[in-house]
Amino acid sequence: MTIKAGEAPLAVGDVLEVVIGQIAHGGHFIAHAQGRTIFVRHAITGESARIKITEVRSKMVRADAIEILVKSPDRVVAPCQFAGPGACGGCDFQHIAISRQRSLKQQVVQDAFRRHAHLDEVGVVVESVPGDQSGLSWRTRVRWSVDSSGHLGFHRFRSSEILAVNTCLIATQGQGGVPEGTYPGVLEVRSAQGSDGEIVISAATSGSTNSRRVNHEVLGRNWNIDIESFWQGHVGAAEALVRAVLDLGNPQPGETWWDLYSGVGLFSAYLSPVVGPTGLVVAVEGSARSIRDARRNLQHDHHVKLVESDVARWLAKSTDHGLVSGVVLDPPRTGVGPVIARQIAAQEPRVVVYVACDPVALARDVEIFSTFGYRLDKITGFDAFPMTHHVEVVATLVPIPGRDQIS
Ligand SMILES: C[S@@+](CC[C@H](N)C(=O)[O-])C[C@H]1O[C@@H](n2cnc3c(N)ncnc32)[C@H](O)[C@@H]1O
Repeated sequence: MTIKAGEAPLAVGDVLEVVIGQIAHGGHFIAHAQGRTIFVRHAITGESARIKITEVRSKMVRADAIEILVKSPDRVVAPCQFAGPGACGGCDFQHIAISRQRSLKQQVVQDAFRRHAHLDEVGVVVESVPGDQSGLSWRTRVRWSVDSSGHLGFHRFRSSEILAVNTCLIATQGQGGVPEGTYPGVLEVRSAQGSDGEIVISAATSGSTNSRRVNHEVLGRNWNIDIESFWQGHVGAAEALVRAVLDLGNPQPGETWWDLYSGVGLFSAYLSPVVGPTGLVVAVEGSARSIRDARRNLQHDHHVKLVESDVARWLAKSTDHGLVSGVVLDPPRTGVGPVIARQIAAQEPRVVVYVACDPVALARDVEIFSTFGYRLDKITGFDAFPMTHHVEVVATLVPIPGRDQIS
């Protein structure tokens, strides 16, 4: 039933007409009705839409745009048949022209800094990952969900229900089709495609995984990685991020760098030849599997020291005070928070290169770093997850002149 403004409190299933406002973090657009702020999926700023309420909570209301009454010029037909209201929860932006997806992500990053770091204009530009034109066929790793009869698919948005699919258009071409067969009793199937074209499939049952290895090539260097270890998702992201870290961090021969949350040692491997034999790179990573991969892939990088540790625990014991020139910080989605920021600032690096997959966590951490005497210097964004709302941002933090030393 379509309801009119001012009628009853909103309830799940209500349909109403709204004007779609600004984008919010998380792939939603803001609309207002009945005195409530509504987070609408599948819309674009400036559109008029009929929306259906999907969730009502005390602090937020969610809805899907189910009919577009006035279309944005940036609306396109979603390339994927499984995208849309109530369907696959993976891609939020399939209905938006790729150039607009990027400008929306730019706005999300800018808003995050305005709200959480009190920085009005950070001037971020979200670029495509080099080589990516269409925003499709980029994802080297896919996690397939398994339904009760062993068929593969993806979760519907915010649902435990698994939607059967026969293709994923954002996966690299070789793996766009669903892996063959059924997987009864399997919790999750992972597939990955290496730079050599080989597709590797791994199935996880409770308590065990038949782990497999994938080959990647980045800037002329070969990697052989366990499918379970972290690896950048976009086929071009590892190269783009390594270049950004080197460009923005500007490492020099003889310097000591820390690569915190190093995964399999991606950034360490390319910092190492730059700092050279008189320098040192210390890679700190919590996953034993990733450290094993780093040992295997960096065995000839003699001036990289690999440390398997929780980053906070390692920092608390660190005795490199004053010797660290640069820090690469690539934490999980939650960011680092005050304890780690303080410990890093206390080492007085000349630059911190922060690689972030969540702009809000990044902006919060930038604000925290500012209380320890570091300010945002440069910032750049990569559309490393096209067709979704996700964005990768690389920022540098530098000491504020005259800052108090932290002990
Ligand atoms: C976003 S990934 C970055 C990996 C790597 N820099 C890359 O680009 O390939 C974050 C990494 O942090 C590791 N990690 C998460 N929490 C950690 C912690 N508390 N201490 C150490 N490592 C952690 C994860 O295992 C993962 O490898």
